[in-house]
Amino acid sequence: MISNPVLDCIRSRRSTRHFDEQQIQPEQLNALLEAAIWAPSGGNSQSWLFTAVQNRKLLLELNTLVRQAFQHWVPDDDYPAKINAKTKAQDENYNFYYHAPTLIIASNRPGYANAMADCSLALENIFLAAESLGLGSCYINQLHWLRDDENVRAFLYELGIPRKHIICNAAAIGYIKKASDVPPRKENTTKIIT
Ligand SMILES: Cc1cc2nc3c(=O)[nH]c(=O)nc-3n(C[C@H](O)[C@H](O)[C@H](O)COP(=O)(O)O)c2cc1C
Repeated sequence: MISNPVLDCIRSRRSTRHFDEQQIQPEQLNALLEAAIWAPSGGNSQSWLFTAVQNRKLLLELNTLVRQAFQHWVPDDDYPAKINAKTKAQDENYNFYYHAPTLIIASNRPGYANAMADCSLALENIFLAAESLGLGSCYINQLHWLRDDENVRAFLYELGIPRKHIICNAAAIGYIKKASDVPPRKENTTKIIT
């Protein structure tokens, strides 16, 4: 197995779901946002917007709106992870970003077919950069699921995210409080044809 800093970083990154309260350093946040915008984008469109929210009060307000929105927007025959999240969101202790001190929301211009692809590549850059800086990270899907909720959108608009933008995904970031288990990788998911 080849070992180098990039490959080791890819292997060691895990989704973190237990974060310290302590905020990350400004230079760390800058490094993460810079890593995001160095991702490839379809036709070099770079039409994304990365909005980093570090205000605890605002994040908790957003969490309240997300909890409410879940009950309106997720039908009972939706896919299991989403139904599971909807059920959990009924609990007042539910927190969709795991109380991470930083949430980076990735959005993109409407009607752009590569919106999700571009933002997802940027998010992986953020995750790997976070790992390289000793920070934890996790992909957060809730704002994508609930992107059409009026109250969630109004709140995101107040944060400066254009109303017409597609909310693609988000990254929870912070220092790791509890290390995650390593989900084993499935076999037979790669193939080499010579
Ligand atoms: C498209 C996508 C959506 C995800 N959504 C969430 C999410 O909303 N909440 C969460 O805790 N993890 C989410 N994850 C993280 C996965 O659960 C995680 O990557 C997977 O369990 C493998 O664990 P690892 O990242 O530690 O390798 C998501 C991952 C992807 C790629």
